[in-house]
Amino acid sequence: MKIVNSIKELKQNLALEKQENKLIGFVPTMGALHEGHLSLVKHCVKENDVCVVSIFVNPTQFNDKHDLETYPRTLEKDCALLEPTGCKYVFAPTAEEMYPEPDTRTFDFGTVSQVMEGAKRPGHFNGVAQIVSKLFYAVEPDNAYFGEKDFQQIAVIRAMVKQLNIPVKINACPIVREADGLALSSRNTRLTPELRQKAPLIARTLKESTTFAPDKNVREVIDYVVNTINKDSDMEVEYYEIVDGNTLESINDWSDADYIVGCITVYCGEVRLIDNIRYK
Ligand code: PAF
Repeated sequence: MKIVNSIKELKQNLALEKQENKLIGFVPTMGALHEGHLSLVKHCVKENDVCVVSIFVNPTQFNDKHDLETYPRTLEKDCALLEPTGCKYVFAPTAEEMYPEPDTRTFDFGTVSQVMEGAKRPGHFNGVAQIVSKLFYAVEPDNAYFGEKDFQQIAVIRAMVKQLNIPVKINACPIVREADGLALSSRNTRLTPELRQKAPLIARTLKESTTFAPDKNVREVIDYVVNTINKDSDMEVEYYEIVDGNTLESINDWSDADYIVGCITVYCGEVRLIDNIRYK
């Protein structure tokens, strides 16, 4: 496994791989790797000849300065986790390398980038589109892998590659969960032991809600999820929306779409956790 820090060195290495017609797979990350990331890497290694993983805490996607400053940075540990996976290149650039000039591009992907996280975290998806497009230009992968925990992010990235004509296949991989259901996230390490015990309530409630979804109407299911979680005084639902999984538009009736997903954000103490569940 080779660790490279510059786009130039990355491109030199990958040019040799591409000369040999190798299929290039790419997993963009912000580090603090956990089993969720490693499952993306596993898919990537299996389905490509060469796996590239990037580790870069992207400043332009943080709308909260404190969140950026406290985001875990564990490059050495991350590389040790990647070493046995079959990952061939780790791309770990500096902020100066990725942003030699401020990125002034503003994107508009319509609904997929405006609702839910788009509304609650202004500028977040613009920053994600900025960095992911730059990373795609640097790596020029055949395949890229993203986790479904960030369900809306995948929709935004699909819209971005379409809008910018970037020839890469976007692969969505299922959420990896702890044994008690909590979706893996780098943010889970910020939970106190007490809150860590409480956090699985989110996944448990979502799962429960799918069992009576066809009988109760959409509004009732939303109310059930929000009220059940909010009953715990340490938890506060920021939003729960049940949407068409393709357009991310809210649905009113279970017959409104063939692919339906519920997306939630919950403050567990100070820690903002997200999760989602498929109804149909
Ligand atoms: O999902 C993430 O970790 C980040 O948003 C990504 C895609 C690596 C861009 O910085």
